[in-house]
Amino acid sequence: MDSAKFIWMDGDLVAFEDAKVHVLSNALHYGTGVFEGIRAYEAPDGTAIFRLREHIERLHRSAKAYGIKLERPVDELIDVCRRVVAANELESGYIRPLVFYELGSIGLNPAAARVRTIVAAWRWGTYLGEEGVANGIRVRISSWRRIHQSSFIPIAKGTGQYLNSVLAKQEALATGYDEALLLNIDGNVSEGSGENLFLIRDGAVFTPNVSSGILDGITRASVMELLASEGIEVKETILTRGDLYGADELFFTGTAAEVTPIREVDDRPVGAGKPGPITKRAQELFAQAVTGKLAEFRHWLTFV
Ligand SMILES: Cc1ncc(COP(=O)(O)O)c(C=O)c1O
Repeated sequence: MDSAKFIWMDGDLVAFEDAKVHVLSNALHYGTGVFEGIRAYEAPDGTAIFRLREHIERLHRSAKAYGIKLERPVDELIDVCRRVVAANELESGYIRPLVFYELGSIGLNPAAARVRTIVAAWRWGTYLGEEGVANGIRVRISSWRRIHQSSFIPIAKGTGQYLNSVLAKQEALATGYDEALLLNIDGNVSEGSGENLFLIRDGAVFTPNVSSGILDGITRASVMELLASEGIEVKETILTRGDLYGADELFFTGTAAEVTPIREVDDRPVGAGKPGPITKRAQELFAQAVTGKLAEFRHWLTFV
């Protein structure tokens, strides 16, 4: 995060060391915030932010879902993201908008607390490692189940709900794997700690449906469109643990993870134990789309 020199806080760009909040901020105690993760890519014709509007719209939906009054319009926040990337002189990187309750209430009704909005950005490489992107990662089924819609709002990015992802990620790393894959309460496949899953069997492509408790990923939607543009339809469905073991290919998608192949699940090789043809094609198409090389998808990019 060394490259996050300036952070935008409610209208002002402040230096990294001055971007502070009080220890009695409501969000610090109860996870009363919502956030986004967005990537900017170095394209031949400048720095391109990928699907910025969709991310900011999801931020608004998350805030609405948790009853947080986000009074900054989508267009303003789009502009702020561009400004923060520019102010930090990033040719590529990760952008983190966060909206949270600060001081004013330390009770479970945060209504009296001040709503703060910040946008930070920094240089950030591959999330699951270059080796993982090239050869695939090792995944385990988590002993933790994905948060359920009866207790949380899985399609929102609420800060507090990420303790579920933290538990799963910590367990996966502590037991020698690269990433966790969570089942939902019904025992069906949901998603990774911060990624959506795709499964290929006999040339057909599947991904868990939204009712499986996933975050409705923007990368997931993009990869579905990219594959569709090549005549490969992705079916949203219910997937079981057994489906994973019988898959020819598996891969994760996410803003952080981009398109990352999975080479092993629960110590069983996926297909031939190396990235398969549809996974590789999804990686190529995604890499081309985010750098503006696919004319059909250039509208996904906002240049800084
Ligand atoms: C729990 C979870 N699932 C999936 C994703 C992937 O979503 P997106 O592609 O919109 O980044 C993320 C990342 O935002 C996530 O946090």
